[in-house]
Amino acid sequence: MSYQNLLYLVEEKICIITINRPDKLNALTIDTINELREAVKSANADPEVRGIIITGSGNKAFVAGADIAEFSNFHPKEAKKMAENGHDAFDSIENSAKPIIAAINGFALGGGCELAMSCHIRIAATNAKFGQPEINLGVIPGYGGTQRLVRLIGFSKALELLLTADMVSAMEAKDLKIVNHVVEPEELMAKAKEILTKICSKSPLVVSQILKLVNKYYSAEKPGFTSEIIEFANCFETTDFNEGVSAFLEKRKANFQGK
Ligand code: COA
Repeated sequence: MSYQNLLYLVEEKICIITINRPDKLNALTIDTINELREAVKSANADPEVRGIIITGSGNKAFVAGADIAEFSNFHPKEAKKMAENGHDAFDSIENSAKPIIAAINGFALGGGCELAMSCHIRIAATNAKFGQPEINLGVIPGYGGTQRLVRLIGFSKALELLLTADMVSAMEAKDLKIVNHVVEPEELMAKAKEILTKICSKSPLVVSQILKLVNKYYSAEKPGFTSEIIEFANCFETTDFNEGVSAFLEKRKANFQGK
């Protein structure tokens, strides 16, 4: 398959998937999400591949979120479909039988942070920044952020980040346990490959069993994921959502009214 929004490369048993929209800071359109799901499926089906790295193109962003311009005029029905699609793609990453490492080379915001959190291991470059800024747009996270962030960093800090939209640096993200390691940008891919190569030397059967079982530990959270999709769609009929996305696109501060 050929990809419009991704680069797909297999070398030495590792598949590298690069989100490739650097002009838009690798923001995730629905097509990009669909290609990502397809790429992960292909890598899982390829006997040459033992592990996967997901990263972003350029040196500024991993992924700066879902593409705001694309969803700015969506109705709740379209928003529900969008969230269901994103959840499905990110679930397929989380449930991949082959290990997936996020190599985070800059902004990982909104859907970018959610994508990184759906991967099994996260390595950040020192210039990475993490956050769930959706509240600034008058909307909630729609790709699992309200659930996976709590899982990773706990109730109180997750609420602080979700409610303030504050970004955290790579080192803060390591302290919070969002990321496993922080390295210099030029060492990012080497570190991700080093860890994957070690995992790839183990039994693929045991690797996939461990991934499956550790995911099972969290399966009780599923009702929260379903509620997130419904509440995300509901946001799309509010005045605050229209104000939030218009403010972003017009490069100004939003003035929310609570309706
Ligand atoms: N969706 C669509 N386009 C996006 C985007 C997104 N999530 N994030 C960045 N872009 C686009 C910008 O609109 C801009 O496009 P333009 O050059 O055509 O105007 C380009 O990417 C570069 O971004 P810019 O904002 O100019 O870079 P910056 O360095 O000033 O700021 C960020 C970087 C990440 C702080 C800022 O882009 C941002 O806040 N992005 C949105 C983050 C967000 O809210 N994500 C959650 C979405 S649900």
